[in-house]
This record gives sequence, C-alpha cells and structure tokens, in this order.
Amino acid sequence: MYITALDFGSSHIKGVIADLKKDGSLVVLKTIKKESAGIKRGEIVYPEETVKSLFEVLSEARHFDKRCLKTLVCGLSGTKSKFGLSHASVSIPRPDMEIIPEDVERVIHESMAINLPAGWQILHSLPREYVIDDMQIDDADVVGLSGKKLEANVIIISIFSSIRKNFDKVLQLVFGKKSDFSGSIIFSPLACDRAVLSKQQRELGVVLIDVGFGTTSIVVYQDGKMLLAKVLPVGAGNISNDIAIGLKCSVDAAERIKVASGCAFARDVAAKDKFNLSEFDEEHDVTISRKYVAEIIEVRAREIFGLVQAELKVLGKAGKLPAGAVVTGGGAKMPGILNVAREELKLPAQVGLPNTDEFEKNNPRLDDELSDPQMAVACGLLLQQADMLIKRHAGITPLGGGKGGGWLERGSIIAKLIRTFITLD
Ligand SMILES: Nc1ncnc2c1ncn2[C@@H]1O[C@H](COP(=O)(O)OP(=O)(O)OP(=O)(O)O)[C@@H](O)[C@H]1O
Ligand SMILES: [Mg+2]
Repeated sequence: MYITALDFGSSHIKGVIADLKKDGSLVVLKTIKKESAGIKRGEIVYPEETVKSLFEVLSEARHFDKRCLKTLVCGLSGTKSKFGLSHASVSIPRPDMEIIPEDVERVIHESMAINLPAGWQILHSLPREYVIDDMQIDDADVVGLSGKKLEANVIIISIFSSIRKNFDKVLQLVFGKKSDFSGSIIFSPLACDRAVLSKQQRELGVVLIDVGFGTTSIVVYQDGKMLLAKVLPVGAGNISNDIAIGLKCSVDAAERIKVASGCAFARDVAAKDKFNLSEFDEEHDVTISRKYVAEIIEVRAREIFGLVQAELKVLGKAGKLPAGAVVTGGGAKMPGILNVAREELKLPAQVGLPNTDEFEKNNPRLDDELSDPQMAVACGLLLQQADMLIKRHAGITPLGGGKGGGWLERGSIIAKLIRTFITLD
C-alpha cells in the first residue's frame, strides 16, 4: 500500500512517498520538495495560494505513480495551537473487572470534555499515563488488566479552528468533496518527535527544536513523558529578513547569502573573510564582511533559543535535560547553530536527523535525501501513518531494530495515535 506524507512548511512542502509492504516493512520510493505559498508561521492563511503549490507536489507524485494519492498523511502546524493536560476517570462496571478497549475509549472520551476557548477544537488526545485503582501504570496498554476504576492523564492538543478549516479547504479544492482517498492529519511537532527522538532521549529528558522558516517548534520530554509541544512564531526566515535589512539587499539575495556563507556563531568567522555583494545581488557592488553577516544571524539565533529557554524555565527544566537539545528543521543546517544552542540553553546540543534505519530505500540516493533535518516532519508523518495502519491490520509481522525501538514500540505509540485518526473524506 502506498502512503504519501506531506509536511506543509512555511517555505517548502516536503513529501515522502513509501510503500508499506504486507510484512510491515516501509520502502521509501521518492521524496519531493517544492516551494510553498500561502503558508505563514506554519499556518495556511491563503488556501488558494497553497493549492497551487500542493498541485505541483501532487502532480509530481501522480506522475510517479497514481496509487500515491490514495493514502495521504498531512502535517498541521501553527502558532495558534495549545498543549494541555486533562484527567478523567471511569468505573469498570463488569464483575470480572477486566479492562476492555471500550473502557479505554470511554476514559479518553471523558478526558476530552474540557472547556476550550471559543473557536478552538481538539486535534489530538493522547493518553500519557493510566492509573488503575490508584496504582500508576506508565505509558502501557491497559487492556486486559483488572481494576474497579480506570483513570487517565491525557495530553490534549488543541488548535484554533480556522487553521483546520483552511487546511480542509485546501484538500477540498484539490480533491473535491467526494475524494476517495483516506488519511490523517497530525500535529507536525509530534511527527518530528516520532522521526528524530529515541526512546532513551525521551527517558533522560530532551528538548527537540525544529527551526523552520516561519516557526520554531519544540517538544520537551522527561521520564518518557511529553511535557510540552509548542510552536513559536520565529524561524530561520526572520534571519534572511534581518540580513536584507542589514545589507540593504533583496530578501532573495539575503536568503542566498545566508545559505551560501552564513554562520550563526560570529566567533567562528575570521575578520578578514569577505565577499562581494554583487555575487548575490548584481545591483550592489560592495564588499561585505562575513563576520558582520554572522553577527546579524547570531542575534536572531540567540533570540530563537532564548524563547526556547523561556519555555523550559516555565516548565522548571532549564538546564536540566540530560539528553540536551536536538536541533532539526532547515535552520539546523546553519553552521554554528549548535554553539548558539549550547550557550543559550546551557545544554549539550546535536543536530536531529530522521532515523532512516526504520526505512528501506529502493535507491541509494534516497539515503542522502532523507538524512536531512528538513525532512524530519515528513518522515515522522510517514512513520506514524505506517504505525497506525499496522496496528489496524494486526497480524503484520513486526520488524525489530530502529532508534525508536522498532515496530513493537510503534505499537505503543500508535495505541495513542489511533485515537486521533481523522479521516479526510
Ligand atoms: N544550508 C542551509 N543553511 C542555512 N539555512 C538553511 C539551509 N537550508 C535551509 N535553510 C533554511 O531553513 C528554512 C526552511 O526550513 P524548513 O523547510 O524546515 O522550514 P518550513 O518547514 O518550510 O517552515 P515552518 O516549519 O516554519 O513552517 C529556511 O529559512 C532556509 O533558509
Ligand atoms: Mg517545518
């Protein structure tokens, strides 16, 4: 079965097409990356614009193989999203007191009975831990256990309804109301987490930082529990704007300068290192110090990690996450970014790549294309969709291995995600 994962980023739509085989293996066939339009700070604000760029992606996919469009999994992001916790309790009414899947459904359903501000809706409800008769059961499947009372602490991810409406509008404009595909919508930071973090990092305590174009998304874990998933309204696109202002050049030229010769840690750049602006913007014949550009970048990079640090302080986790910071997204490709992260967060830092061990590839080139921090969300969407489908079609032989613990562990993650499955048609 073909699956196409689509990450609707503020600068690029990233796609990964894979074949989920009957034995549970996931064979990646193709990646796609196209400039996006109509997406600001991770949120679709002009659906008609986004449709145009989505069409380009889908026509490339369709050209590759029509079956790609049957099952889509899409990432949804935006700063108008909230992470919350809810608690609910149900009694087990049967004499044998054995917990059945319907009891789990009931307790999660109860946990969703919360007061949201007007115009907000729940996107995901993910059980974080269960309590059976006052005994805590961490992140386990409680079906089959016994007790009189089942309680659940549940993570609620809610979004402002307009985000979802515009998303649905794009899909409707592309596929029409009576589309015959199925798929899911997943909060992008959760997908990024799935692709990049290991079980050990989540246990030790870690902050995942996806520095995108218009946003920086963070996910914080300790003791295997998610403490926060949040989208902040600044990203690497702001750096290009700063360079454009600093050098008085176009934003396009500034973007090229940033990628070709940017560095986020000015101390790493020699004072004599210079370039001519005409290499990037022919209207300007002026010599520019690379160190000066790095100083501009560093100010914004420090602001981004400063915002992350403020979130960690609120959680009481600043400087207290032994697995440190894992930086991903296109912004992670900027030289020097890890030094800034280390200084601002006072934590170890590393670049987070999608865990490609979980994929088979039909072409060695795909290894390079997938080992790219910009592909983290798309890879995570694919893995989560595969997790869900495998769970649904129980009986598929699980595979071992993988940074995230392989398919057996997927089972426990999808046990959570399956409840969030939203059919698009
Ligand atoms: N080699 C590079 N060096 C520096 N920056 C880079 C590099 N490659 C990409 N970027 C930056 O990464 C950003 C795009 O990253 P990404 O594709 O993760 O964002 P997005 O998903 O489109 O945005 P968002 O997640 O905010 O909606 C751009 O600002 C781009 O300039
Ligand atoms: Mg992104």
